Amino acid sequence: MNQESFKGKTVLLTAGPTQEPIDPVRFIGNHSTGKMGYALAECFAQRGATVQLVAGPTNLHAHHANITVTNVTTADEMYAAVLEHADAADILIFAAAVADYKPKVTAEKKIKKSGNELTIELVKNVDIAAALGQRKKPGQFSVGFALETHNENTNAREKLHKKNLDMIVLNSLNDAGAGFRHDTNKITVIEQEATTAFELKPKSEVAQDIVNLIWDRLHG
Ligand code: CTP
Ligand code: CA
Repeated sequence: MNQESFKGKTVLLTAGPTQEPIDPVRFIGNHSTGKMGYALAECFAQRGATVQLVAGPTNLHAHHANITVTNVTTADEMYAAVLEHADAADILIFAAAVADYKPKVTAEKKIKKSGNELTIELVKNVDIAAALGQRKKPGQFSVGFALETHNENTNAREKLHKKNLDMIVLNSLNDAGAGFRHDTNKITVIEQEATTAFELKPKSEVAQDIVNLIWDRLHG
């Protein structure tokens, strides 16, 4: 594979967490740092791709000139930004940790403390990967991520089908040094006809493994 192997290709990537507002000062979120998504963006950019990165709140910055970042906060905003770039994308990568639920209503004013219990009603967020899977165009290649604590392979394979993905990257939380808040990751890539396990390694190298595998599938 040469350095410019993705020249002419457009990659649409989601990364980071989403934050779903409860009131003006609070939100529902998660521990995603965005590192995996940003590492993938960097890797694709270095190989000549045009990268549209739609990112939830993170401390990270994209450096490569080929990367355009759209910053979003909520899942709804992420979905809207993804839709804007979907038609032009050859490769779609869903690396974001999208909140599955959002508060049914966002309080306009800060919720004051009162009583011993507080119930916040939640409603389901849009499933961005599944929605894009439904409107997938011929030739588009899509990759999802899954973080499972049990029945890993079965659950991941189910998501592959449900979301009409070509590939799902399974992160194992059961291995020390893998997953949220670590710079290393241990992945298994699940496809319709193949399962490929990788060693624990830095996220930048994990990104290269994923990008290499995508290249193989596009040219295999
Ligand atoms: N995903 C998404 N939009 C959502 C939820 C998930 O785009 N609202 C994407 C993620 O970016 C990931 C894939 O779907 O690529 C799988 O996410 P995951 O949270 O593992 O799957 P869910 O379908 O949300 O199932 P669950 O959380 O119940 O395991
Ligand atoms: Ca989820």
